[in-house]
Amino acid sequence: MKILVLNGSPKREKSDTMHITRAFLEGMNEASPQDVHIVNIIDKHIEFCTGCFSCKRNGGECIHHDDMKVLLSEVLESDLLLFSYPLYAYGMPAPLKAFIDRTMSLSSMAMKKQGDRYVHVGQADFSHLRYMMICGCGFPNSKQNFEPAIMQFKLMFPNNYNIITVPESPMFNASEAAEVTAPRLELVRQAGKQYAGKGKIDDSLLAEICSPMIPEEVYAAICNGEIMP
Ligand SMILES: Cc1cc2nc3c(=O)[nH]c(=O)nc-3n(C[C@H](O)[C@H](O)[C@H](O)COP(=O)(O)O)c2cc1C
Repeated sequence: MKILVLNGSPKREKSDTMHITRAFLEGMNEASPQDVHIVNIIDKHIEFCTGCFSCKRNGGECIHHDDMKVLLSEVLESDLLLFSYPLYAYGMPAPLKAFIDRTMSLSSMAMKKQGDRYVHVGQADFSHLRYMMICGCGFPNSKQNFEPAIMQFKLMFPNNYNIITVPESPMFNASEAAEVTAPRLELVRQAGKQYAGKGKIDDSLLAEICSPMIPEEVYAAICNGEIMP
C-alpha cells in the first residue's frame, strides 16, 4: 500500500505523536511490506489559502506556486493518507490546517447533497483513498479534548477513515515512562497489523489504545511536579 504520512507536528521526527505513528506503520509492515513516505509539513512551503476560489473554477489551478502542487499529486497517487499530529487548541496545528485548506482545489464549486449535508463535487477522483488520523495530546483526558478534531476529521473524510487518539502522549518521549509506553506501543503495532490485514481495528483494541496510560490524577501530579515519576 502506498502510504503518505503527513506529520503535522512542528517537532518533526521528535514528535511525541510520531512514536505512535511509527509503531502503527511497523505493525502494518509486519502484515505486508508497505511503501511509506513521511512528509514533515513544517518543512514545506505552503502558502495560506486566500479564499479566492479560482482553483474551484479553474480545473484545480491555484494562484500560489509552492510545494502544494507536488503534495497534491502525491495525495492522489496514494492509497492511504495518514495524518499524524498533536492536538493544538482542540484541533490541528496551523501548518497542517494550511495544507488541508489548500486541498480545496481537489473539489469544484458545485455542491451535492450527501445524506443530511452538502459537500463539494470532486474535480479529481479520490474515491480510492483511505484516511487515518493519529493524534496525541498533552492532557490526560480524552473527553472534552479530542472531540472537535475527531468531528472535523469525520466531516472532511466521511468514508474509509480510522482514528486513533492517545492522551498523555508526552510520555512517549520520556524514557522513565517506558514501562507504560512500551506496552501501549505494542498495542498500536497490533492495530497496524490488523488495519493492514482487514482494513479495520477491533473496537476493544482501539478503546485500550485511546485510554490514558496512567491514571489522570497521577499524570497531572507528575506534570505539576507534585510527585516524582
Ligand atoms: C499551541 C499548543 C496547543 C496545545 N493544545 C492542546 C490541547 O488543546 N489539548 C491537549 O491535550 N494538549 C494540547 N497541547 C499539548 C500537545 O498536544 C502535546 O504536547 C503533544 O504531546 C505534542 O505532540 P508532538 O510532540 O507530536 O508535537 C498543545 C500544545 C501546544 C504547543
